Amino acid sequence: MTAIDWKGLPFGYFKTDFNIRCYYVNGEWGQLEVSDSEYITMHMAATCLHYGQEAFEGMKAFTGADKKVRIFRLDENGKRLNRSASGLMMPEIPADLFRKAILKAVSLNIKYVPPYGEGASLYIRPLLIGTGAQVGVKPAKEYMFVVFVGPVGPYFKEGFSPVRMQIVKDYDRAAPLGTGSIKVGGNYAASLRASERAHDEGYSSAIFLDAKEKKYIDEAGPANFFGIKNNTYVTPQSVSILPSITNMSLRVIAEEMGMKVEQRHIPVEELAEFEEVGACGTAAVISPICKIVDRETGKEFIYCKDGKAGPVSEKLYNKLKGIQEGLEPDKYGWITVVE
Ligand code: PLP
Ligand code: COI
Repeated sequence: MTAIDWKGLPFGYFKTDFNIRCYYVNGEWGQLEVSDSEYITMHMAATCLHYGQEAFEGMKAFTGADKKVRIFRLDENGKRLNRSASGLMMPEIPADLFRKAILKAVSLNIKYVPPYGEGASLYIRPLLIGTGAQVGVKPAKEYMFVVFVGPVGPYFKEGFSPVRMQIVKDYDRAAPLGTGSIKVGGNYAASLRASERAHDEGYSSAIFLDAKEKKYIDEAGPANFFGIKNNTYVTPQSVSILPSITNMSLRVIAEEMGMKVEQRHIPVEELAEFEEVGACGTAAVISPICKIVDRETGKEFIYCKDGKAGPVSEKLYNKLKGIQEGLEPDKYGWITVVE
């Protein structure tokens, strides 16, 4: 293996040695299989290709200062994949099968877990797809579960330096009673136009508003939004956002740090009142936001004028990272150590 430039890794696909596969046939899941191929062969009428029967997950493994490899909130990701599966009429994956598949994918590619202190991690991507053929709009009878992994750097190239984001009102990512709260490919397809335009216009990401009233902050691109004011961590309550496991963890950490936590509607105007704002997610970790521009009105909301993250975001980030890297105690059982 040629040496990997861990510090220079982008957030992207990286070929590793093995991936794990499992097939659902005749109403049941088979055995886990190990593959060294990056490709899958499937029927051209597979439902994932036509009717979007596709759900995925994202979690990370980290090397700690003690050299142990820790996976963050594996079981919570498994539960969410099953909510996505159920939302798209796909079979759920037994918790034990999910756990074994993830551990196997990481263990077989252990040399690709970035060392401690390189600012990188191993991204784990479980994928569930309908592979059975259908032409009528119906769920498939056959499915495939795949887990691949790869070392990644920060999702936003700025890393923990603050990014700029753009509020969009002319596109919706998800409808209130649609699929926004589950992690399915269609939501990302719906976000592509607004995201690419935001990039072209100089922003890291688009911020979507609630699709019904266009009043409240919904999702910060591929991450949840949070704002800090008066020692309070505020994050949107919405039926159309993905319940972020990072956000769920930050709410616990914020409370532990003596902050109040509020999950409620956040009207766009309230952006003027926050001391710090940020995006949070597995890929994004915590991405502090230095500036939000409303694309329609041109109104600007500015934070961290010196180009640095605010003190609360930094404290939250360090605490979360500390748990992921084993420097802080794992009080809540969020960590799975890869033996
Ligand atoms: N929101 C969206 C749309 C996402 O794709 C993600 C990434 O998974 C998140 C939020 C953050 O969720 P989590 O913290 O569980 O990774
Ligand atoms: C994640 O944070 O895991 C994501 O899914 C974001 C994006 C890569 C889809």
